[in-house]
Amino acid sequence: MNALTDTYTLNNGVKIPIVGFGTWEAPNGPIAQHAIEQALAVGYRHLDTARVYWNEASVGAAIKNSGIPRDQIFVTTKLWNTDHSYQLATAALDKALQRLALDYVDLFLIHTPATNYPDWAAKNAETWRALEDAYHAGKVRAIGVSNFNPDQLTQLLQTATVTPAVNQIQLNPQHPLPATVAFDEAHHILNEAYSPFGHGKLLQNPELLALAATYHKSVTQVLLRWSLQHGYLPLPKSVHDQYIQANIEIFDFSLTSTDMAKLDHLA
Ligand SMILES: NC(=O)c1ccc[n+]([C@@H]2O[C@H](COP(=O)([O-])OP(=O)(O)OC[C@H]3O[C@@H](n4cnc5c(N)ncnc54)[C@H](OP(=O)(O)O)[C@@H]3O)[C@@H](O)[C@H]2O)c1
Repeated sequence: MNALTDTYTLNNGVKIPIVGFGTWEAPNGPIAQHAIEQALAVGYRHLDTARVYWNEASVGAAIKNSGIPRDQIFVTTKLWNTDHSYQLATAALDKALQRLALDYVDLFLIHTPATNYPDWAAKNAETWRALEDAYHAGKVRAIGVSNFNPDQLTQLLQTATVTPAVNQIQLNPQHPLPATVAFDEAHHILNEAYSPFGHGKLLQNPELLALAATYHKSVTQVLLRWSLQHGYLPLPKSVHDQYIQANIEIFDFSLTSTDMAKLDHLA
């Protein structure tokens, strides 16, 4: 873990940069496009978007404007809850590719499990089959899920022919999800850590501020180290140039095992 371009290897052999740039609530248009262009300019090579962030067009435009070859940027998008079914999921990917103006995405996720159906497990299995077919057709380099708990994953694995490459879940010291993390690790599913700053709510936490001060680092930098040192893939989001830069200054220090344990018990 020395640089933003370092990678984890997914369970299908695809390499994924260890930090992704989050884009939820980056409004489509100049704000999102500028933030993503800035992120790419300072070295991020992994972008996380979703249909429901409504900014896939800005992600695509920023990639194009960056001049960086497409194969050097890892792009994730997700289908929304309204697209659970084989046909809807297949169409959702095609529409996402159009909005992104890309031929493929690197990672396509089920954003949240189907829950509002009596046959929720069958619905997840059907949607997953569409992702598997898209994967075999080469429209996506890897497929995964988000917000799945061990029960939902156990059900999915009963019919899946491709194991999800990632499970994107809320992971930070106040939301550690130990059962899901352990399940994912046991099944070689990478834990992607969304809301690594608790959607901004952890940034004024007195214990975190005190700990960060001992490293002469910011709370966000400490939280990103906590994520990486656990082997998670954090997805920090910002639309401010100075934060986008600060959040990558995380390779010149490491948290001691005592401080990792302290953070593990923050919840
Ligand atoms: N799969 C899912 O269901 C799901 C759910 C939530 C999130 N996600 C993904 O995970 C990403 C990150 O999560 P998140 O957006 O919830 O929140 P987050 O990254 O935990 O926190 C973002 C907030 O922290 C602020 N911030 C960032 N860096 C900062 C810094 N250095 N100093 C001070 N403030 C800073 C941001 O401000 P500004 O933006 O104003 O600069 C923003 O308000 C999302 O963007 C999305 O890609 C996925």
